[in-house]
Amino acid sequence: MKTTRRGFVGTIALGAAAGALTGASPFGRRVSAQTREAAKSGIYDGGVIQLNQNESARGPGPKTIQAIQAHTNERIGRGYSPDHVNELRSVIADYYEVGTGNVQLATGSTPLLQGSVRAFCSATKGFVTPMPTYSTSLATARRIGAKTTEIDLDSSLAIDLDALAEASRGAGLVYLCNPNNPTGMVHGPGAVEGFVRRVLRESPETMIHVDEAYINYGRPDSIETAVPLAMEDERVFVTRSFSKAHGMAGLRVGYGLGQEQTLAKIRGAWGMGDVNMLGAIAAITAFEDTEHIDWEVKENAEIRDGVIAGFRDMGFDVPDSHTNHIFVDIGRPAAEFREACLERKVLVGRDFPPLHTTHCRISIGSREEMAAAMKVFKEVLA
Ligand SMILES: Cc1ncc(COP(=O)(O)O)c(C=O)c1O
Repeated sequence: MKTTRRGFVGTIALGAAAGALTGASPFGRRVSAQTREAAKSGIYDGGVIQLNQNESARGPGPKTIQAIQAHTNERIGRGYSPDHVNELRSVIADYYEVGTGNVQLATGSTPLLQGSVRAFCSATKGFVTPMPTYSTSLATARRIGAKTTEIDLDSSLAIDLDALAEASRGAGLVYLCNPNNPTGMVHGPGAVEGFVRRVLRESPETMIHVDEAYINYGRPDSIETAVPLAMEDERVFVTRSFSKAHGMAGLRVGYGLGQEQTLAKIRGAWGMGDVNMLGAIAAITAFEDTEHIDWEVKENAEIRDGVIAGFRDMGFDVPDSHTNHIFVDIGRPAAEFREACLERKVLVGRDFPPLHTTHCRISIGSREEMAAAMKVFKEVLA
């Protein structure tokens, strides 16, 4: 089974890489908001190897694709409410051994990030975040005019949990991305629990958001979910995404886990979107197909560790990554590096201030994409 799947995915990936190398796009033209910069430059085309958005290079597993195909029928004409959405909620609730009221579905986890800031922050209730980290919540806080506090990473690029807890006193919401994007670094169960309990104790009014979008990719025994903490205290909630290890970014499914009153406040502050029928059946299948996720995680780890070793051999520092991206100290502005790579048809991540003058985030693509990309990186960094 494993060999078949590897063969199946490998064939797709090879096709994509071959297209990328010849400049003929295997996907057709595909220009997203995040690649607008590249599109504007006039260099971008569908043949670019996209290592800029932490999407899965392999997409969903074969069972998930089969489920989508099998459910593409006239039932799509019925959608108020769409089939399988309640079932998805129940499947997730059963897995975590919580009630369905403790699960909030959304069209990707993005609406939960936006809604939580709108629910818990205001001109008088600030938002606190490490920096760099995933910045949708910060952008929302700025949009609504909330006070924002950014806490630098420590010298090892880990989140400074003590400084974050200190800065959270009196805040409306503190955001902790674990594993962190862009660094790929993880904060272990003891450290996260210690941080959460300290904030709860020292700042009883502050809500705590733990974003676990990349948790599937964590190395064994390095990370534990904060869901039990969320079930214990209504001031804690967790978000998850089907966009990363499950390979479903284009289907837009995510969820929040927490106490009912907490989730009600979040969805009361901002629309969560409607998960659609195909997204729901795909998510159920992907969630239950643990064999595929195990394979995906192993495949990503092998490619990622090879890429990390390649950069370290070239003399560049890369923190150990627990995600499908790495954050490399390239010793020069990310913009310069990005431009040079793009000229060679490889697109790497955006700027992550304040480390944009030295570091660049690179998403991990397929084996073939990374083999081609490493040649480009060597050339550009030589
Ligand atoms: C840490 C983190 N959280 C949340 C998201 C939002 O993803 P989605 O809305 O697809 O679930 C992303 C996307 O890259 C992310 O990196």
